Amino acid sequence: MANFPTSTSSKHLIAPSVLAADFGNLSRDVGLVNDSEADWFHIDIMDGLFVPNISFGFPVMEAIAREAKKPLDVHLMIVDPDRYLQQFQQAGAAVITVHQEACTHLHRTVQAIHDLGCKAGVAINPHTPVSTLYEIVDYVDLVCLMSVNPGFGGQKFIESTYRKIKELRAMAEGRNNRLLIEIDGGVGVQNAFALLQAGADVLVAGNAVFASSDPKTTIAALKAIDPQIRQA
Ligand code: DX5
Ligand code: ZN
Repeated sequence: MANFPTSTSSKHLIAPSVLAADFGNLSRDVGLVNDSEADWFHIDIMDGLFVPNISFGFPVMEAIAREAKKPLDVHLMIVDPDRYLQQFQQAGAAVITVHQEACTHLHRTVQAIHDLGCKAGVAINPHTPVSTLYEIVDYVDLVCLMSVNPGFGGQKFIESTYRKIKELRAMAEGRNNRLLIEIDGGVGVQNAFALLQAGADVLVAGNAVFASSDPKTTIAALKAIDPQIRQA
């Protein structure tokens, strides 16, 4: 994947979640993200088992991949994701994130993702402590901290996420300085500054982008936030 940034990159990344797009106008919404300042497409895959919802599968993801001009950041909310890693890579994934709670042999799964030439991410649910990542943090490119219970867009942000960002950054310090910390769920212009200041690198935003009156301007606003400069 071209231009995979590290946490030492000056600028944070914005990953609009396609789950909140208009699937009747998918081509238009993919084009919108292409033409915006967004960095990645966030692709939410739900199996109705790991989470109480089903989103979409390969045909839709491949349709997105055909038109997307930015990397696909694929968030697998599915049980036993090892079964499908190769298919997701072939469908166009640049980053594949699996849930810690869904993997019995997480290290092996991370290795398998790397062997496919993708960047590897691990996500944890709101109730899962950061400490459960202690032995895997050296090996992953990204950790996704779920700031809502996965399964649905448009939920309320869970405040304990701020503490988890700080704990994770402290844990990775000196061990994985390239680690990207991604925040997923309930993220928007109202909390983006605080999240970046706490140490987030990638902000996923679904409803905040696609339900806004001007998605491109909202993406630009999220991208323009400078965590060094206190907001008014
Ligand atoms: C939730 C998904 C999120 C979701 C975010 O299970 O992982 O990526 O699309 O949606 P918002 O930004 O609307 O909370
Ligand atoms: Zn997601």
